[in-house]
Amino acid sequence: MSFVNRYRRSIIVIGTIVLCGFLLTQCVNNEKEQVVQKGIAKFDQFAGSASCASCHKDIYEKHKQTGHYLTSRPAEEKYIKGSFEKGKNVYAYTPSIILAMEKRDSHFYQVAYFKGEEKKAMRFDIVTGSGAKGQSFMTWRGNKLFQLPVTYFTNAGQWSNSPGFPSDRVMIDRPVTSRCMECHVTFAERISEDGKEPEEFSKTNIIYGVDCERCHGPAAGHVAFQTQNPQEKKGKYILNPASLSRQQNLDLCALCHGGNIHKTRPSFSFSAGEILADYFTIDSLSELAVNTGNVDVHGNQLGLLNKSKCFRMSETMTCNTCHNSHENQRGNKALFSQKCAGCHSVAHNNFCTIDTAKFPGMHQNCIDCHMPAKLSMSIAVMLPGREVPAAASVRSHFISIYPEETKKFIPLQLK
Ligand code: HEC
Ligand code: HEC
Ligand code: HEC
Ligand code: HEC
Ligand code: HEC
Ligand code: HEC
Ligand code: HEC
Repeated sequence: MSFVNRYRRSIIVIGTIVLCGFLLTQCVNNEKEQVVQKGIAKFDQFAGSASCASCHKDIYEKHKQTGHYLTSRPAEEKYIKGSFEKGKNVYAYTPSIILAMEKRDSHFYQVAYFKGEEKKAMRFDIVTGSGAKGQSFMTWRGNKLFQLPVTYFTNAGQWSNSPGFPSDRVMIDRPVTSRCMECHVTFAERISEDGKEPEEFSKTNIIYGVDCERCHGPAAGHVAFQTQNPQEKKGKYILNPASLSRQQNLDLCALCHGGNIHKTRPSFSFSAGEILADYFTIDSLSELAVNTGNVDVHGNQLGLLNKSKCFRMSETMTCNTCHNSHENQRGNKALFSQKCAGCHSVAHNNFCTIDTAKFPGMHQNCIDCHMPAKLSMSIAVMLPGREVPAAASVRSHFISIYPEETKKFIPLQLK
């Protein structure tokens, strides 16, 4: 082998290395544009969804109707579901311990009475929950937030004891944690030091609801850029989950829909596009955590779905296969059934094996037989005068064959 040849080859090798290095930094740079800043974002990096309205009007208007947007709001009259009317506004612990929901001036209060004498008035400051199942309420004391003792339970249309609260006395000192906030608001700035409890939050630096920027990352940079460059047709400095991997997409939803996951870094550190396991120990997929008979803590949708054949035997299924995050699709069984039909059809020879002639309406409702509603283990409350808690029902995401559910339809169909 001649010297020249060897020299030439090393030039090629070095050239290749340099080129790879260059491409690599390009990838990393591109990625930097996609992935939002690491660590806990600052309040001023958020723009709030109202600022998206001018350019993404359709999505903005629809999003305001979703459970996500409504899952935390300031305690204004239009957001509180329960009644303040006399006769409908009390929860009695015992005949002498009573809590009344009262409107005073322009605010709303939970007022504790003992033998008719007022003991404590606690203001509704934040509403948690859209009210599909129920609403809990938070009150500020200084910079600390506490959960109010009475919750509104939608199934019964009544005020009820908050889940996990004692049933014989008014508990007023259950602090709201940053993890509770992380699942129900887009951003809350914690101002107390690590480890200090109860935690303290800034009263002003909160972005309510599971808002656009929870799924797309803080967007002040995007808004500023697009506003200054109205001719620019491409979106910059913003994350579109469509560009993420299957796992990244699942992780984004699992932050709040993954059952019992335990944080290893402070709340609000995780951002869309990152790997959830870097921030949480995740046992929501383990046998122990996923009892398919249970729909546990606020519904472990990821854990249950992960057990289903649909999920395991298809390569692409994510939550977005069936859900459009920008729309309120609640109760639209026909629409969800169309999603099933995207994979299951007679033509593909993997359609339902029941006798379709007996079930003429089946194409509009694959859901009740294969994803039945089950009682929640955690959204359960004590109603006045009852001994066992009443639970909200949640759709099981363990897509499977439930002969008992099918039986419920047989008499109906044979009529
Ligand atoms: C001044 C106009 C403007 C404002 C305000 C604005 N956007 Fe955009 N955005 C655009 C344009 C233009 C695009 C590119 C075209 C498109 O995808 O609609 C875009 C694209 C996007 C994309 C898709 C990016 C991609 O890579 O496909 C997302 C997500 C997005 N915007 C979210 C938001 C959010 C969230 C807000 C509010 C916090 C917001 N935008 C505010 C103009 C704007
Ligand atoms: C920051 C936490 C959080 C993230 C991230 C999140 N969700 Fe949710 N989601 C919630 C909460 C809280 C509710 C309950 C809303 C309410 O109060 O009704 C909810 C409700 C829902 C509902 C029920 C809506 C209805 O019909 O009432 C669906 C479906 C849903 N989420 C899907 C998703 C999907 C898909 C993703 C990922 C793209 C996702 N969520 C990401 C917190 C989150
Ligand atoms: C791990 C994330 C997570 C944590 C922590 C969490 N929630 Fe939730 N919460 C959810 C999700 C997700 C739903 C929607 C349940 C569903 O439909 O499966 C929900 C539902 C609710 C609802 C019923 C909303 C409705 O009408 O459907 C209330 C009320 C509520 N949560 C209050 C709280 C309060 C108060 C705390 C803290 C003390 C808390 N949650 C902690 C994720 C969480
Ligand atoms: C619960 C998570 C979630 C929330 C909240 C959310 N989005 Fe999205 N958004 C997504 C996902 C997931 C996609 C990608 C859908 C896909 O795979 O095509 C997306 C896509 C987009 C796109 C790209 C174009 C399109 O229509 O697919 C825009 C623009 C956008 N979102 C804007 C917004 C705005 C503005 C808001 C608030 C008003 C918002 N999003 C709230 C999850 C969310
Ligand atoms: C992304 C494609 C996809 C979607 C969407 C989908 N499935 Fe499946 N499903 C599969 C695959 C793959 C299997 C396993 C192989 C087979 O049976 O075809 C499966 C299996 C099943 C089974 C058999 C389960 C068992 O334990 O034997 C049922 C029942 C089922 N799906 C119902 C549904 C229903 C109902 C929906 C809508 C809510 C749905 N699927 C949506 C891909 C999908
Ligand atoms: C009335 C209840 C009911 C309805 C409605 C229903 N299914 Fe089924 N499905 C069943 C039962 C029961 C079985 C198991 C039948 C058997 O053992 O052969 C089954 C079986 C299946 C299977 C497994 C087939 C296999 O090869 O093992 C799939 C996939 C499926 N259904 C999908 C669907 C889809 C998609 C829809 C909506 C278009 C639907 N089902 C509507 C009750 C129902
Ligand atoms: C195969 C389709 C399918 C997939 C995939 C899917 N869902 Fe659902 N989901 C449904 C259906 C159907 C409902 C019931 C809708 C209704 O009745 O309003 C539902 C309801 C929900 C609800 C409301 C629960 C309740 O009963 O109030 C939440 C929250 C939810 N899904 C989250 C998720 C998350 C998170 C993922 C991904 C881990 C996911 N879903 C994946 C079909 C799906």
